[in-house]
Amino acid sequence: MSQTTDLFASAALGPLTLPNRLVMAPLTRNRAEADGTPTPLMATYYAQRASAGLIIAEAATPNAVGQTYPDITAIHTPRHVAGWRQVTDAVRDAGGRMFLQLQHGGRVGHPATSGLTPVAPSPVPLPGTIFTPDGHRPAVVPREMTVEDIRGTVADFARAARRALDAGFEGVEVHSANGHLLHQFLAANTNRRTDGYGGSLTARIRFTAEVAEAVAAEIGAERVGLRVSPGNTVNGIAEGETEEIYPALVERLGGLGLAYLHLVFADPDAPVFHRIRAGWPGTLVANPVLQEMSGPAIEEASARLLNAGADLIALGRPFLANPDLVTRLRLGAPLNQVRERYLMYVGGATGYTDYPALGDGAAQPSSASSVALDGPRVA
Ligand SMILES: Cc1cc2nc3c(=O)[nH]c(=O)nc-3n(C[C@H](O)[C@H](O)[C@H](O)COP(=O)(O)O)c2cc1C
Repeated sequence: MSQTTDLFASAALGPLTLPNRLVMAPLTRNRAEADGTPTPLMATYYAQRASAGLIIAEAATPNAVGQTYPDITAIHTPRHVAGWRQVTDAVRDAGGRMFLQLQHGGRVGHPATSGLTPVAPSPVPLPGTIFTPDGHRPAVVPREMTVEDIRGTVADFARAARRALDAGFEGVEVHSANGHLLHQFLAANTNRRTDGYGGSLTARIRFTAEVAEAVAAEIGAERVGLRVSPGNTVNGIAEGETEEIYPALVERLGGLGLAYLHLVFADPDAPVFHRIRAGWPGTLVANPVLQEMSGPAIEEASARLLNAGADLIALGRPFLANPDLVTRLRLGAPLNQVRERYLMYVGGATGYTDYPALGDGAAQPSSASSVALDGPRVA
């Protein structure tokens, strides 16, 4: 934890020294091979963004049933490890550092995508439809996980974390945010269990805590981050007791020595932000959700969060559209805006590796425009 509000000051993170406090937030871009193996194009994309203090690579699924959407990445076979290795090598050669986000979708999944019936804490389907290789399909009722499934999934996360290190990552981020499996255990409307994994607050936080603990035991707590999104209703989540769940989770995990806690939609005016900050002894990564994507807007949001006790600032779409975001912010240069929003979650090089850095020529409109997040497909 530090008191600096300088985005460009270096920071210690576990065994790493970050050259600045800007973190690239995990961004699912659906450019992997059908089996989840990363491609050479992905190595180019991440290497372009290596000046981030830390890159948190997009969600990778730790087992087959955890797959959310088509062409997302995975980390449960030797082939996945080899594919990721070319990405981490390219980023390291470009001077960067990377964690990998581990995400199990739970009920955010479909047999048309994974070939398997999704699993979840309770048989409560995602409202509405979900995107599959055959287009949007009605969500299916997930199978309720047995205690044996829960233990197996915890072990899958730990194995995936080991594979991530084998693939050259510096660490992993456990995804307990945005309505995916771990968040489904935290939330009252998706967790109707009455065994030791549901019911009381202590029981609802247990699965997330056990995953974090198992991953920390496997690769060392200083190489493990945890992402949460208090109050986020994406993917049909209604947590109930948001003000209590996260302080309880922080209390349970605070002594573990994790590398960081990462808050999505971090709001320094929200009481829960302050309760989490007060209870979390380690590094706090804050991801504001920007209505306007401009240097001044980022600086203002970052200053408020750093003043309120955040240590690092995570940004998603600004890094998506600006491979040299750190330089642009340093110089006060205009930012590229996100183009062709449908290419955020599908496609090849267009809308992916063709966002220009300063000096690349290809001028873009420099005026800030409002960019809203896609609803159902935000990972
Ligand atoms: C294209 C896209 C993909 C995303 N993929 C992920 C993901 O894989 N994991 C995750 O935790 N959040 C994901 N998110 C959420 C972002 O990490 C981030 O929280 C969100 O974009 C808000 O930050 P921003 O205003 O800086 O973009 C995604 C968002 C976008 C726009």
